[in-house]
Amino acid sequence: MDFELTEELAMIRDMAREFAQQELLPRATKHDRQGFIDPEVFQMMGDLGIWGLTVPEAYGGTEVGNLALSLVLEEINHACASTGVTASVHGSLVCSTLVKHASDAIKQEWLPKLATGEVIGAYSLSEAASGSDAAALEATAVQDGDEWVLNGTKLWVTSGEQAGMFLTYVRTDPTVSKAKGITAFVIPRDTPGFTVGKSEKKTGLRGSSTNELILDNVRLSKDRIVGELNRGFHVAMDALDGGRIGIASQAVGIGRACLEASVKYAKEREQFGKPIGQFQAIQWKLADMSTKLDASRMLTHKAAWMRDNGQDCGQMASQAKLMSSITANFCADECLQIHGGAGYTDDFHVERLFRDARVTEIYEGVTDIQRLVIARKLLV
Ligand code: CAA
Repeated sequence: MDFELTEELAMIRDMAREFAQQELLPRATKHDRQGFIDPEVFQMMGDLGIWGLTVPEAYGGTEVGNLALSLVLEEINHACASTGVTASVHGSLVCSTLVKHASDAIKQEWLPKLATGEVIGAYSLSEAASGSDAAALEATAVQDGDEWVLNGTKLWVTSGEQAGMFLTYVRTDPTVSKAKGITAFVIPRDTPGFTVGKSEKKTGLRGSSTNELILDNVRLSKDRIVGELNRGFHVAMDALDGGRIGIASQAVGIGRACLEASVKYAKEREQFGKPIGQFQAIQWKLADMSTKLDASRMLTHKAAWMRDNGQDCGQMASQAKLMSSITANFCADECLQIHGGAGYTDDFHVERLFRDARVTEIYEGVTDIQRLVIARKLLV
């Protein structure tokens, strides 16, 4: 057992840290306020190879694996969580899923563009009536000769404004039980009948777009199916095993930013004649934040390592996401408390961290869904 990163992993993490500190951190508040990520950031991430971390070299990526992606996501999210979720969904929910489940033709068409960031990927599973109960989705695809005709409305689609392709799940067989009749399709943004609808006004991650999708007689050839017909739910769930490691990494990044801001403030801010970091009440908060963060990171790295080694990582991914998302919110809350009134204003970036952390306990499966996944694995 070795807790040291390999030279290659350490190099990738350092590259991401330098980029995040120099280019993202100075823009994070701007991204939050303007409601979008500066387009040059996408370009820089392409130049650094960040969009292609889970794409094989044959398609223009580096395929350095989930542990590498996790390290990169921690650094990006430490600086700007809006950019972080964009990279997480693109890398772990879209690129990895195409690599594992798509036909050669789909890989040839999309992976080279996804690897450079020329196209940003989106993942569309949820609907108004299917959130935690993902298999209850109602959007349909009906076969018409060699084509499928898609209708319905999807919700909560990360990067809806920027994405060029949408990995979308719809019901192809209404006669079988819920999870069995679902199929995954790749929908190019410019497909007739396909519209990106309203953008949600969110509490946090305001630099990242979250949209509704409208499918109005969208005609797709059968070649656009990812994985097997009517086996799309398995594709969706397998994708989420990887996606949850991405969100756990995001939570660790946000939590670490909270801890670092708290330590800095605890050394600078004086009350009762001394820095507040000299009071035990503050020291205990810092100690708990640090301990929970290290535990969260270890679970996250283990889940990523398991996925890289072809092991079933579902339980570990959910454990990592459960622990890390609760920890991120704990750290954000303590960080704001340590900052007092100052933390409750937008003079400090602490209030953004507090808002950004919240959704890690909600998307890609709320905390109780992670508990459900873990408990089901324990009880088989
Ligand atoms: N990998 C592959 N297959 C899996 C799987 C996995 N991890 N988990 C389940 N399956 C398979 C099962 O084996 C089963 O297969 P069979 O029908 O062949 O037996 C099938 O899928 C159905 O499984 P379940 O009976 O467990 O399904 P369920 O209806 O009880 O749902 C659930 C399980 C865990 C609750 C699931 O619905 C779930 O994860 N819900 C949360 C949804 C979610 O995370 N949404 C996130 C939206 S995306 C997002 O947020 C992204 C973003 O933009 C940031």
